[in-house]
Amino acid sequence: MTLRISIIGFGAVGQGVAEVLMRTNHPVRVVAIADSRGAVVDSCGVDLADALQRKRDAGTVATTDMTAIDIIEGVDHEIMVETTPTEMATGGIGLIHIKKAFEKKRHVVTSNKGPLVAKYSELCRIARENDLHFRFEATVGGAMPIINLSEEILAGNRVLAIEGVLNGTCNYILTRMDDEGVSYEQALGEAQELGIVEADPTADVEGIDTVAKIVILANSVFGMDVGYEDVDVTGITKITPEAFKLAKEGGYTIRLIGEIQDGTLKVAPKMVPRNHPLNIGGTFNIASIQTELAGRITIGGIGAGSIETASAILSDILWIKRVLGD
Ligand SMILES: NC(=O)c1ccc[n+]([C@@H]2O[C@H](COP(=O)([O-])OP(=O)(O)OC[C@H]3O[C@@H](n4cnc5c(N)ncnc54)[C@H](OP(=O)(O)O)[C@@H]3O)[C@@H](O)[C@H]2O)c1
Repeated sequence: MTLRISIIGFGAVGQGVAEVLMRTNHPVRVVAIADSRGAVVDSCGVDLADALQRKRDAGTVATTDMTAIDIIEGVDHEIMVETTPTEMATGGIGLIHIKKAFEKKRHVVTSNKGPLVAKYSELCRIARENDLHFRFEATVGGAMPIINLSEEILAGNRVLAIEGVLNGTCNYILTRMDDEGVSYEQALGEAQELGIVEADPTADVEGIDTVAKIVILANSVFGMDVGYEDVDVTGITKITPEAFKLAKEGGYTIRLIGEIQDGTLKVAPKMVPRNHPLNIGGTFNIASIQTELAGRITIGGIGAGSIETASAILSDILWIKRVLGD
């Protein structure tokens, strides 16, 4: 059976999902796409090339003024893919979309951290009670498969600790400070010129984005019930070129590390030995998972980007398809 999906949010990631579905040949049919200005709906399958072109030309995918909620409520489909902007404090519009999808008995795949940070246990409970699947690999590390790896591939193997570089923007800034001896402000300016920083860089450089990922990992992989306020956080804005010089002299570099260990959650700049796997350069993400039986497993990958993030969403869609036996 062909699985029907909606794409709610048609920015970088939503468009990436449309592109990977066009590139690959999976029996998945997109029956609706919504952005903030309206939607396109076709029960026989939305023409994805056409939708992408319209978004580029007109700034909206819309051919009707139906809203995301109208689609989730009224268009028949099995999986809602939620890719609207993250709002961490309340879960934002994404939380409303996900709850509505569960109410209408639809499975959910999302890249949106906000709803998970705000209401992880409630959303999992609703999904469980309704026999629905809730998948969110794309929320942590973009293309880097950390959640599903820990929960499925390493099944039966208790995860004892995770530490990782989970924000590409911070890592780019720290790499430039380390390599070139430039100040934090200079490195941030370079990152802004390259377009790898949000208009407001606060969430990245103050460690907020990494906190969100640590909360999601703690709740999903470690079965904890924690929120944003449970993480001890220090960002990278106060790091000086002198700190890097001293670190270098001792054979270390400095990286923004998110970690979960012995029930403690922390995000802070940390000295990392230069030959340590977490000493990754540029915008890459890397995580080291300490397991009970398999020892340490280290994975890395591109932590953001339209197609890369969409690849994680696609794997979650196909996982649901497999589990449903379609
Ligand atoms: N970009 C990445 O590499 C990346 C990686 C991992 C996770 N994420 C997460 O994935 C999500 C999407 O990221 P993105 O980069 O694709 O964001 P984005 O480019 O800002 O796109 C967000 C999309 O959501 C739409 N939207 C906003 N409010 C809506 C509403 N009420 N109803 C329907 N659509 C609405 C926007 O509509 P308009 O187009 O009309 O403005 C836009 O199409 C975010 O939560 C982000 O944190 C992103």
